Amino acid sequence: MKFTVSRLALQVLLLCCSLLSAIAQTDTSLIPFYHGVASGDPASNRVMLWTRVTPPNNSGSDIQVTWRLATDTGLTNIVKSGSIKAKSVKDYTVLVTVNGLQPNQWYYYQFTALSRNSLTGRTRTLPTTGVDSIRLAVVSCTNYQSGYFNVYRSIADRNDIDAIVHLGDFIYEYGKFGFGYDSTVNRVHDPKLETITLADYRRRHAQYRLDEDARKMLQQYPLIAVWDDHEVANDAWMGGADNHDPATEGDWNTRLAAAKQAYFEWMPVKKPDPTGDPGRIYRQFKFGNLIRLDMLDTRLQGRTEQLAASSPSFNDTARTMMGLDQRQWLTDDLKSSTAKWNILGQQVMVAPMVAFGAVLNIDQWDGYPAERNRLFSAFAQNNTKNMVVLTGDIHSAWANDLPLSGYSSSNRSASAGVEFVCPSVTSPNPLSNLTPALIKLFNTHVRYVDLSYYGYTVIDINKNRLQGDWYGVSTIKAKSFVTQYKQSWYVNTGEKYLRQAAAASVRSANRIVLPAPSQPQPVGPRLEYVPVESRLDLYPVPSSCWVYIDQLEEYLPEDMIQVTDMNGRMVLPAITVGQAIQLSASGIDVSALSPGVYIVTVSGGDGIRSSRLIRY
Ligand SMILES: [Fe+2]
Repeated sequence: MKFTVSRLALQVLLLCCSLLSAIAQTDTSLIPFYHGVASGDPASNRVMLWTRVTPPNNSGSDIQVTWRLATDTGLTNIVKSGSIKAKSVKDYTVLVTVNGLQPNQWYYYQFTALSRNSLTGRTRTLPTTGVDSIRLAVVSCTNYQSGYFNVYRSIADRNDIDAIVHLGDFIYEYGKFGFGYDSTVNRVHDPKLETITLADYRRRHAQYRLDEDARKMLQQYPLIAVWDDHEVANDAWMGGADNHDPATEGDWNTRLAAAKQAYFEWMPVKKPDPTGDPGRIYRQFKFGNLIRLDMLDTRLQGRTEQLAASSPSFNDTARTMMGLDQRQWLTDDLKSSTAKWNILGQQVMVAPMVAFGAVLNIDQWDGYPAERNRLFSAFAQNNTKNMVVLTGDIHSAWANDLPLSGYSSSNRSASAGVEFVCPSVTSPNPLSNLTPALIKLFNTHVRYVDLSYYGYTVIDINKNRLQGDWYGVSTIKAKSFVTQYKQSWYVNTGEKYLRQAAAASVRSANRIVLPAPSQPQPVGPRLEYVPVESRLDLYPVPSSCWVYIDQLEEYLPEDMIQVTDMNGRMVLPAITVGQAIQLSASGIDVSALSPGVYIVTVSGGDGIRSSRLIRY
């Protein structure tokens, strides 16, 4: 169905008004891509691109979406492009896997649908060899009702990192005015009741992705994400959750499946292998031989139920955080890894947190002592033994050694590795009855703890050392804020314990690149490539009205290039492949075409290959 822009705008606005009435941040200039763009799960040759098309009506029809990826902000040097349908069964979200990319490269990308362009996103592939520095921004715990996502804005604006690592609680499940609600900010959840069904979780994700700061951060960097409990329900384990009552909220597995489906629809995360476990999210990222980053699921994959520390079964070796399959996967990986740094991205704090001999939080690794022993044994089998854990969940900033038997303030080398814990983006601190002095008194392995601010951690990694820099935002109660540097701690290769750094790490100037533009490209003359069955790969360059033909030099010089309309009438003079290469180094000039749909064909001894070209 085709709409004029004004009619489309009106219809989408009406739909938004009815469906998203609680949301104040809908930016109409982004129509129909209100939720922005995102990228994620980068590899050295691949990245996932994400967007969502808000449908103009309730017809349920598929919506054609085209995408392009280029090496420049103006999207003139297009290296990959294609088309995909946004479907109602996926809530009109779109996830494209782009393969065949160069390692260690920044790219820019854009979607087009319903005659409008999306924001241009920026993304980056991972390196293969020779990388000397990687910088990751680590975040967690983003409660919409607690305040503004100024932390996201701070990361979006700094422009000196390679990827974002989100350790979970990307959304919260509570209803309007539930946990974390702050009346001075008065940002309320939509839908208004706690999320239980697929429709609920989809709508909650949609609300979070309409947030301007979330959109700006995800526009600029690839995301490496994993869920924690609140993507489903508080203090979840594989068979239930503290905040799930089967008597009133139904079957746990039904709720879990709904939450996971919405997550995989709305997040730029590679889908689980269709031949394997459909709920699996634990996976690995390789940054050349510098880093192996294993993103773990200590929450939903195999966690047995939390038990009170006084329970006779508390130390039972059958109790697990990861489950058998994931634990074996991790153990095997750590044994075989030759990466300089082995980093785990996971949910809950690994280092002990005790006071007066008592475990303070049974939901973290303290609540699963046998599993933590097994984890530290796996660390010891790692080839390089440079083990680093990145953690979220606890809504406060920590830098910890990971103490083994014999660890003390005078023997810090009895450590399994180090742990960097990022503060929350907005979720309130749950440890308000503790002080840093008390924590450090009973936990000498805690080198830094601050319970007072919202922020993030920048992890700067090179072959000699790995440093964490903590940053806070001055407020989450207003949109205006300043970013405040807090402290830095680092570990030298081979040492396994933390030292305080005098200053924050910095990115070398030659790695800083242009951010993606803040507004979508204006609508105007545009070319769009639609592959058909006998596919001919085209790379339209709208700014010059040229269409490049992929690998044209592999055709015979006498093969013919023809452009016809949909009735088969020639609309441009036919030229040979040899002429096209001579004229333009492998393309044709289509500036003489009026708006319409055309067929570009190359025909010769090898048969006929063609694709559609749309000139707007
Ligand atoms: Fe949280």
